[in-house]
Amino acid sequence: MARSKSSFRTVFLGAPGAGKGTQAQVLAAGKTELGPVVHISTGDILRTHVAEGTALGKQAKAFMDQGQLVPDDLIIAIVEDRLRKPDVSPAGVLPGVRPVHSGARSPATSNATASSSATSNSNASGAWILDGFPRTVPQAQALDRSLAGLGAALSNVVYFRVPSDVLVKRLTARWTCTQCGAIWNTEFKPTRVVGTCDACGGRLSQRPDDRPEAVVKRLEVFRSQTEPLLNYYRGQNLLVEIDANRTPELVLSDVLALAR
Ligand code: AP5
Ligand code: MG
Repeated sequence: MARSKSSFRTVFLGAPGAGKGTQAQVLAAGKTELGPVVHISTGDILRTHVAEGTALGKQAKAFMDQGQLVPDDLIIAIVEDRLRKPDVSPAGVLPGVRPVHSGARSPATSNATASSSATSNSNASGAWILDGFPRTVPQAQALDRSLAGLGAALSNVVYFRVPSDVLVKRLTARWTCTQCGAIWNTEFKPTRVVGTCDACGGRLSQRPDDRPEAVVKRLEVFRSQTEPLLNYYRGQNLLVEIDANRTPELVLSDVLALAR
């Protein structure tokens, strides 16, 4: 069934390294047929807090560095507040909503900001992507309640399927720009100059959780805590699987087809 652009309200689900952030960044840049899509990445929001040394960031860092999930109640509160921002909430700002997160304060996470902070109502189509949330069944249930309260619904849930050995290769070779947040990869998407971002000239850095031991833990956590969401969303008839072990361009074309 064809979907209107305005109904592209989707969850990107997939193991670490599956390419969720890569695809979401392309859509957020607004150069596809969808126009600008709001990119809400819980990982980027948390990294902003860590970089700024907030109380939440201090609490989250230990979990993240070890490749574990941060507790459900923390992440659910963040996303509930984010979904009430005017760029994603059909009802606009709701009374009593407190500002929670702005990613606009740290150069290290400025890309997270561009795509995941929400202070303006520039996203006329109302299209958004939740990248990395939900990751547990309680988070999915909380999301259902939040969306029902806002009078919104998911258009679909996209599962990026990639074999484990490829995930490990992608993660251990990933580098991120400290200035604009662009994602690079020494194996699959190298920069012209080693260590320097092609997009803005910023310095590249490696995420602490891309160390091999943290990668192993993250993949275990995905299997035990996040994979059950595949059946959760199958049960709601929302799950669409994509073969994400192909070029980013081919993966993007599958994602865009879902929005037509
Ligand atoms: P988060 O930042 O969400 O990390 P993640 O899920 O582990 O996902 P990644 O960002 O590693 O994978 P990705 O799919 O975005 O891959 P990418 O596009 O970058 O979360 C980090 C941590 O925060 C969690 O571990 C947890 O502690 C905490 N957290 C976050 N959300 C939470 C939640 N809801 N609940 C509790 N805790 C939470 O691509 C990876 C690499 O592959 C890149 O180098 C890229 O260039 C390359 N690549 C991408 N696509 C392709 C392709 N098609 N072909 C070849 N290479 C590709
Ligand atoms: Mg990501």
